[in-house]
Amino acid sequence: MGKEMEREVRLVEEFGLRNISQQDVGVDHYFVRRGLIFAVRGYEEFKEALQSGDFYTLTGIMPSSERIHLGTMAVVEALKCFAEKSRQMVLLIADLESLATRSVDLAEARKTAFEFHIPTYLALGINPDSCVFYFQSENPDIHKIAADASREITLQEFRAVYGALEPARIVSSLYQIGDILFPQLVRPMVGVIPVGLDQDPHIRLCRDYVRRSRFLKFKQAVGVYIRDVPSLKGEGKMSKSEPHAAIFLPEDDIRELRRKVYKAFSGGADTLEEQRKYGADLERDVPFKILQFILKDDSELRRIAEDYSSGRMISGEVKEFLFQRLVELMQELQSKIDYYRDVVRRGEIRIVKTARELAEYID
Ligand code: TRP
Repeated sequence: MGKEMEREVRLVEEFGLRNISQQDVGVDHYFVRRGLIFAVRGYEEFKEALQSGDFYTLTGIMPSSERIHLGTMAVVEALKCFAEKSRQMVLLIADLESLATRSVDLAEARKTAFEFHIPTYLALGINPDSCVFYFQSENPDIHKIAADASREITLQEFRAVYGALEPARIVSSLYQIGDILFPQLVRPMVGVIPVGLDQDPHIRLCRDYVRRSRFLKFKQAVGVYIRDVPSLKGEGKMSKSEPHAAIFLPEDDIRELRRKVYKAFSGGADTLEEQRKYGADLERDVPFKILQFILKDDSELRRIAEDYSSGRMISGEVKEFLFQRLVELMQELQSKIDYYRDVVRRGEIRIVKTARELAEYID
């Protein structure tokens, strides 16, 4: 078992997460079929929510850099899995968190969100007619929840969840609880929150708060965890802090993209002869793992898995295949981003400031 997998199993077993299967989700999406959505916190609530359809799905966007990478694309894909069944999809721009933890000025955050993040999310397939956006800094209701939660969580608990404690972390975490529960000010219903595993501490605190809250009535929030897209280096997850080991959306320099893909950590043997003889280790091969996230056609992926692991295909060919798919993805995306940038400029998206305004979109 690979290191990443071991870490995941440990998290699932020790921290009360639960693996999910396709039956649990009841959605036929390649992320679910391939286990790219792999665990939940709040299994019972999750099952009930998906059966009844009485839930919202929500996640946050950090407007802190001008590009997103494949890992963010995975979150968007996961959101799409749940959006259709849910009463409402909510995407929030975490501008206060970016201000507190990444020193991004609010005006700057607003500008990048409008020109870049929101158009990109729409380009990736979020339907503007079934999604509501808000900015943390413009939403007084999340502050009410944050203030209420601040009373119910102790410093010890923050420390246990985060380790080292900084005020910026505490305040962002309280806003995040506000975010996660905000749609319930319209009416209590379960929240399904697709995120990377790094966000689990926030989900845990939020769930603790829901159990204790006295003045406001909430149903539980469920964390749905998406497998990390691996760094091109082969260790750890893709992150914008390591641009050479990440694939951005879009990548405008195709030559640079090719260079990155060809340098990606490979699970193929060192020599061509050995590759033919032993086949590749798919558990360690970064290009193959990335294909799992972006190649929607199951039979094509299966064919590559068989050919590559048996040595019929060699790592250079898999890299070239991945590179070609990425080029297609970039080209398609770029024109869609341009299209949706205009949609956003014309104000043809739904932005709310309060639960009262959100109520219009929830029946
Ligand atoms: N903290 C999240 C991140 O770093 C962003 C975020 C803010 C968020 N509020 C949220 C995610 C609510 C999920 C739900 O990316």
